[in-house]
Amino acid sequence: MMTQAIDTMAPTNLLEAKNLSRHYSISQGFFKPRAVARALDGVSFVLQAGKTLAVVGESGCGKSTLARQVTMIEPPTGGQLWMEGVDIATADRTLLKKVRPLVQMVFQNPYASLNPRKKVGAMLEEPLIINTALSAAQRAEKGRAMLARVGLRPEHYSRYPHMFSGGQRQRIAIARALMLDPKIIVADEPVSALDVSIQAQVLNLLMDLQRDSGVAYLFISHNLTVVELLADEVLVMYLGKAVEHGSKAAIFSRPLHPYTKALLASTPRIDPRQRQEKIMLSGELPSPLAPPPGCAFNTRCPHAIDRCRIEVPPLAPFEGRLVACHRVAEIS
Ligand SMILES: Nc1ncnc2c1ncn2[C@@H]1O[C@H](COP(=O)(O)OP(=O)(O)OP(=O)(O)O)[C@@H](O)[C@H]1O
Ligand SMILES: [Mg+2]
Repeated sequence: MMTQAIDTMAPTNLLEAKNLSRHYSISQGFFKPRAVARALDGVSFVLQAGKTLAVVGESGCGKSTLARQVTMIEPPTGGQLWMEGVDIATADRTLLKKVRPLVQMVFQNPYASLNPRKKVGAMLEEPLIINTALSAAQRAEKGRAMLARVGLRPEHYSRYPHMFSGGQRQRIAIARALMLDPKIIVADEPVSALDVSIQAQVLNLLMDLQRDSGVAYLFISHNLTVVELLADEVLVMYLGKAVEHGSKAAIFSRPLHPYTKALLASTPRIDPRQRQEKIMLSGELPSPLAPPPGCAFNTRCPHAIDRCRIEVPPLAPFEGRLVACHRVAEIS
């Protein structure tokens, strides 16, 4: 368990992470020392009610690991995570029971995340059976209302998941996540398994639901076109660390970290007037088991100098956002 003192001034944001870390100890075989994968390495952010924080970065940068901390699927190995002021790393069972229903998850693959043997209605009512004292009639009423809210028809209530398309299945998954009126939904690549033609419909649904219910999203995506549609704030991650973090407007109109620039340059933009230099990402993402010394991005950065190979750049304020780059003032 963690030994940090509990902060006396507990923040009362909906969700706040401070230096949140998740390291995995990995066996490398007999007689070899175990290695440590720093899947998530000291990430801090605040998520306000009704807002969307998008987390972006390449495969393996720690997005799903972050999602697992926020949804309390596994505990962090370092740092703090407060939900409505409750530090979930040190909270007792009673408190955890109170905050757990505040956050729900929507997964990438609606084919795998829905139980094929359960009817839609049963799936929607399940969280109510476990967490509330509602009667069968009240549960059915709530379930049917939610089904309508996500744009499905009443007769869908007694059907099985295999009878639905991918987009409809993701609507069912979203409906189920909303059944306990959560304040936060963690959506991990919620549309990337869907046909492009269906993605916009599901994204619009997510935006409508947020406007109506005030739910906040921690929205994970490697697709910046999608992020530009619905984010308020953007957190750009590289090898478990935040490299740039700020408002969507700041990041999309003027990305400053060389990694953010490269990500944006490889993304087709909604607004064709947003022209930018073409910087493509070259080279492989290094292993989190052996990140390069200094700035983790230095092996792929066109601006890297000796200092970048030695000294880890701190995430520091620059032009209205946070950037972790030694050379940001020279190259911006
Ligand atoms: N249980 C685990 N044990 C060991 N290493 C893990 C574990 N879970 C994740 N990792 C490692 O942590 C790093 C981050 O993984 P994570 O799944 O969070 O990335 P991601 O950003 O979600 O990637 P993707 O875009 O492919 O979903 C990876 O290098 C991964 O191999
Ligand atoms: Mg992932």
